[in-house]
Amino acid sequence: MQNTSKILIEQAQAILRQNDRGGYTVPTARLYPFQWNWDSAICAMGWQQFDEPRAWQEIDRLLEGQWVDGMIPHIIFHKESPDYFPGADVWGVPDGCLQNGKRLPRTSGISQPPVLASCVRRLWEHSRTPQSQKARMPRLCKQMLAWHRWWWSARDPGNSGLVCIYHPWESGMDNSPAWDGALQRVLPLQNPSYQRRDTLVVDLSYRPHQSEYDRYMALVELFRGYEYAQQKLYEASPFRVLDVGTNAILQQANQDLLALVHEFGSVQEVRELEERIKLTHSVFAALWDEELGLYLSHDEISETPIRVPTSSGFLPIFAGLPTKRQVARMAAEVQRWAECCEHLIPSTSPFHPCFESKRYWRGPVWPHINWIIAQGFEKYEYTNVANRIRESTISLISKNGFQEYYDPHTSEGCGGSSFSWTAAIALLCFNR
Ligand code: DGY
Repeated sequence: MQNTSKILIEQAQAILRQNDRGGYTVPTARLYPFQWNWDSAICAMGWQQFDEPRAWQEIDRLLEGQWVDGMIPHIIFHKESPDYFPGADVWGVPDGCLQNGKRLPRTSGISQPPVLASCVRRLWEHSRTPQSQKARMPRLCKQMLAWHRWWWSARDPGNSGLVCIYHPWESGMDNSPAWDGALQRVLPLQNPSYQRRDTLVVDLSYRPHQSEYDRYMALVELFRGYEYAQQKLYEASPFRVLDVGTNAILQQANQDLLALVHEFGSVQEVRELEERIKLTHSVFAALWDEELGLYLSHDEISETPIRVPTSSGFLPIFAGLPTKRQVARMAAEVQRWAECCEHLIPSTSPFHPCFESKRYWRGPVWPHINWIIAQGFEKYEYTNVANRIRESTISLISKNGFQEYYDPHTSEGCGGSSFSWTAAIALLCFNR
């Protein structure tokens, strides 16, 4: 067994090196040839296991793409690549959005789950060279706080304590069945002339349907037309969803940033974060669904809860949001899913009619989601559940390599291969 883990560690390190494009890591060659926001933050934790300077560089390169309003976009197009659609020209972000009006790097025009501050806190607390890293921390805190403030204002203009996403890609869980209803309101592109590139690399049956892509692209066109003015998007986007996963990740990121700001920020910033954490905590319980045993996203336009059980509904455990009784209920639900699927945690409940074991976010297991949820169960001292989830992750990777995601019934690896955050998660699991 020890030999097996040594080999897996070496392979994981080799994947990160092979996907390094000069200080940033692409998720995988061809399918995703740029720097993706939450992928990158998770990769940095993987890099730290064997090359700490490279881990910090990953964060710096991500922050190069930060906008003047604080948003950190979901893709940073450091270099051109013909392999991906939609590229920088399609997003058409005006120069004025970018820091100091700089043209480079170009970026997409939406964001992604803000796991960054949680990853940076971990880098800092596990640093082997804290004296060399200390100087960068005040700047990193400022930049991360600017991003969090963007979520709190641009995406929660009513200051409710919970933020909205305007595109399924912002959830990072693109074609989750949780978005099906809200996406129906988006008029698909008429006579689309674009060519998808994802299906040239990965089997069509693993990827979102064309009807979903035509709606994703319609949203991009709409946002580009409004030049990404957030107030306009709030009013005009037919897709406005309070995503439970993004909100849970943001709440934990606020808490992690607070810990850093205590050390590197001002009293005023500490207060600001404390207030926001308190506000979010006071409203989060409204997303709990007792019957389903997890939390739900909310459609802000139809004003209804989205009663589709997905792995995202377990993410609030990461932020310490559920009560002990709710955690017991969630643990029982994970167990119930496990009775149907050998490999944890399917991204959609295997009992739901929309569950598909191989299609992107409609059922497969994602190692980084497993890692985040396992951390949450650990916090509540549900060590058995946490270990069961971690063992599932390791066994999937050992059996079928470093894939993008896995079939929870058969363990088959699907999507992109030699996948960076899968490698990073393997390194974290082995070096606990
Ligand atoms: C894609 O292109 O599939 C990405 O998930 C969007 O970020």
